Amino acid sequence: MYRSDRLRQVDEETFTLRIPKDRDFKILQLTDLHLGFGILSRNRDKLALDAVRKLIKKSKPDLIVLTGDSIFPFLPKSGTLNNRRQAKKLMAFLDSFEIPYTQVFGNHDCEMGSVCNKEELAELYKKGRYCIFTEGRKELTGVGNFLIELVDDSGKVPLSLVMLDSNMYGEGGWFYSGFDCIQDDQVTWCMGRLNALKREYPDMNAMAFFHMPPREFKEAYEKMKLGDKNVIYRHGSIGEKNEYFGISKFKGTFFDRAVKNGIIKWMFCGHDHLNTLSLIYKGIQMTYGMSIDYLGYMGIKKSYIQRGGTLITRRTDGSVDIRMVPLGAVVSTRVKGVH
Ligand SMILES: [Fe+2]
Ligand SMILES: [Fe+2]
Repeated sequence: MYRSDRLRQVDEETFTLRIPKDRDFKILQLTDLHLGFGILSRNRDKLALDAVRKLIKKSKPDLIVLTGDSIFPFLPKSGTLNNRRQAKKLMAFLDSFEIPYTQVFGNHDCEMGSVCNKEELAELYKKGRYCIFTEGRKELTGVGNFLIELVDDSGKVPLSLVMLDSNMYGEGGWFYSGFDCIQDDQVTWCMGRLNALKREYPDMNAMAFFHMPPREFKEAYEKMKLGDKNVIYRHGSIGEKNEYFGISKFKGTFFDRAVKNGIIKWMFCGHDHLNTLSLIYKGIQMTYGMSIDYLGYMGIKKSYIQRGGTLITRRTDGSVDIRMVPLGAVVSTRVKGVH
């Protein structure tokens, strides 16, 4: 666990992290590293690690958030199912920057047949020298549902980061049975915690980080393309073939309840490596992080307009700026039907 007088673990599901009062607080979202650390992935891992190094150097963040699929225990591509070794290597790599980091699980970190389950990976991540992680409340669906409350100099919490496990696969339990979503019990927990905090800190907003996009992201995109002016385009594009969104077949209540609740103003996901879109819908800015993957998608090594990170800057006046940090010089910002 990250040891600092700035960080305090309050309970099994809550951290507080003190932020500087006189300068911006910068969060770098990195997603879908898909590190194999196996016999088949050596060259591609090197590219991914180099990319992360460059992005961290370029953006100098105060906190790094990984939104899932960081490791990839998938035998045909990595040559290993040993996600314990992968997690250890990932931690050693991230610890070397001496910048605190936190993360949520994606659908691949504990792929079917891998050595460790999520609980075991959570135990490992808790040992990372700069890692902020906890498995959260045991009775909740998923592992790693927790809060990081950012605390300013006056002891107030102006912004909370909600980390959520968007789970893996639905009925059937494997890749081809379709994706799961954030479950109702997690949603109820999240809204309950935020409501309680809001009573104490009326000016507080929240950001949510999870792996898989909510289905409302697709809904918003389609509305925007039809000219709905209630959807505000911010940046990026949908680069997946046939404008694919890897959403769950389940309805999921997270987005709707977040809109009603009104505290979460920003949501960040990954999962669809070629999508980098950011838009505002019903008062919530939904953002696909630029991704790192060199290994997961067939042929992705050569594709580059999606590769990078996403820099989230909280300014001292409380405003939030979200921008792409592309690894290369070219980035896709075109959305068909909008420009
Ligand atoms: Fe992924
Ligand atoms: Fe994924």
